[in-house]
Amino acid sequence: MERVGSKAEARKAVADARAEHKTVALVPTMGALHDGHLALVRAACARAEYVVVSVFVNPTQFAPGEDYDTYPRDIDHDMELLAAEGVDLVFTPSAAHMYAEDASVTVEPGPLGNRWEGEVRSGHFAGVATVVTKLLSIVRPDIAFFGEKDYQQLQVVRRVVADLDLQVTVASHPIVRDRDGLALSSRNVYLSAEERAAAHAVPAALDAAAGALAWGERDARVLERAMASVLAEEPALAVDYVAIVHPASLEPLETVDRPARALVAARVGATRLIDNCELVPPAVAEGEVRA
Ligand code: PAJ
Repeated sequence: MERVGSKAEARKAVADARAEHKTVALVPTMGALHDGHLALVRAACARAEYVVVSVFVNPTQFAPGEDYDTYPRDIDHDMELLAAEGVDLVFTPSAAHMYAEDASVTVEPGPLGNRWEGEVRSGHFAGVATVVTKLLSIVRPDIAFFGEKDYQQLQVVRRVVADLDLQVTVASHPIVRDRDGLALSSRNVYLSAEERAAAHAVPAALDAAAGALAWGERDARVLERAMASVLAEEPALAVDYVAIVHPASLEPLETVDRPARALVAARVGATRLIDNCELVPPAVAEGEVRA
């Protein structure tokens, strides 16, 4: 496994793999890797002959006052984990190398980037869209992997790739959870034992929506209230939003009569938790109605 810090070295390494007619996959990450990231890496290794993982804590996607400076970083451990998975190239640029001092062009994801997470984290998705576009342009993979954990990010990336005619397949991977149901996240290391216990209400709220839907409830407002009441039982949680939305546009839905997505964002102490799940109404699941 090779580690490179410059764009030129990354381009050269990928060009060498291309010369050997290898298919190329990219898994963009911000490091502090856990089993959620490694599931993406494994999927990439299964789909492509040359796998590139980028480890870059991207400053432009952190709003002022967010945790850019304290975001967990452990590149030595990350390198060990990636070597064990059989990754070919790890791209670890510095922020100064990634962004020219006078850089002025950004990728604005439009309305999809302004709601939900975009409303709470101003400028976040422009930062994500810009860095992902740059990474795709440097590595030029055949396929790039993103987790459903960051569901809105995945939809933003799909829009960027479609609207800018980027020639890459976007592959998604289901959320990897801990045994207690909490979605794995690099930020979970911030949680105290009490906060972690409170955080369980987040996946429990999603289960409540899925459960109510399975029992025949299709009114999105009723399902949202079911989620909100589970979250309200946990006083340590401050809810940012609960929503039932169209799976691609993320527009709120009135009725879940086709596959939808439930979204939750909440804060516990200083840590922000986001989670989501697919909602498939029973008739669709049984194949009676085509979405
Ligand atoms: P990061 O938070 O490090 O996540 C990298 C990738 O791993 C993302 O696609 C994310 O959705 C996925 N991931 C994280 N936790 C997961 C889990 N529990 N299950 C499944 N997938 C999971 O997301 C970013 O970095 C950045 O915004 C990035 C795309 C790298 C751009 O800077």
